[in-house]
Order: sequence, then C-alpha cells, then structure tokens
Amino acid sequence: MPTVSENDLARLADAARAVRSRAHAPYSHFAVGAALLDEHGRVHIGCNVENAALPLGLCAEAVALGTLVAAGGTQVHAAVVAGEAPHAVTPCGGCRQMLREFAADDTPVWSADGQGWRARHTLGELLPASFGPGHWKA
Ligand code: THU
Repeated sequence: MPTVSENDLARLADAARAVRSRAHAPYSHFAVGAALLDEHGRVHIGCNVENAALPLGLCAEAVALGTLVAAGGTQVHAAVVAGEAPHAVTPCGGCRQMLREFAADDTPVWSADGQGWRARHTLGELLPASFGPGHWKA
C-alpha cells in the first residue's frame, strides 16, 4: 500500500472539510467535500454541485477528480470525503468507479466529519472485483 504521511492526511482532511462549506446543495441539504492526493503530492478539492434538474447534480468526488485531471494529475494516491451523517460518508457507487480510473485497489479512502475520522477503507474494499482500465489491455 502506498504510504500516506500524517501531514498529507491532515492536509487532505483540512481541505475536504473546508471545501464542504462551499457545496451547492439546496435540494438535499447534504453538503460533501472531497480532497484527493495526486502523484505529485498536490491536493485537489471538490464539493457537490446540485442542480434544479436533479439528476444533473455532481458529487464532490467527481468534481475533485475533474480538478485533478485538469491540473495534469493522473493518479489518486489517497482520498478524503467529508460529510455529516449518522454513518461514515463514503463515495457513492458511481464515484467509486470514477476513482477506480485513477486509483489502485489499495488506495486509501478516508471518511471524515467535523469531529475527526469516521472510517478508512481501501478502494478495493469499496469496489471489489472491479472493472478498470486494465480490462482494455489486450
Ligand atoms: N454526495 C456526494 O457528493 N458525495 C458522496 O460521497 C455522497 C453523496 C452528494 C450527492 C448529492 O448532492 C448529495 O450528496 C445527497 O446525496
């Protein structure tokens, strides 16, 4: 498993919690922040962006992935999702697949709330036996 330093984890948690406050979630009132660590040690952030046409809403993780790719990142080394809920907020199924495009099975995906850490999974635990880029290689 790639090692993620305590310092990087703290940077990710701070970033995910901060960007959560900028979520556009007037319909669900469920604000989410996400922060991704790329292969250069850079942190990329995203919040959910809902839309009056409900199915068009974007998850925080998807927005963060877009910013990572737009900044030239090609790998996700760690992810933190911040939200307030009775259970740890983990990426939805679609975002697990989106993360799979840029992350390995052993990539850590942390769940945080305002108080601290709620859960830690690997992407492989969240999306077992996944379909990924390797399937396209002959
Ligand atoms: N949401 C995220 O942005 N990320 C998650 O991990 C879970 C759900 C958003 C989608 C929607 O805007 C709101 O939370 C309620 O589902």
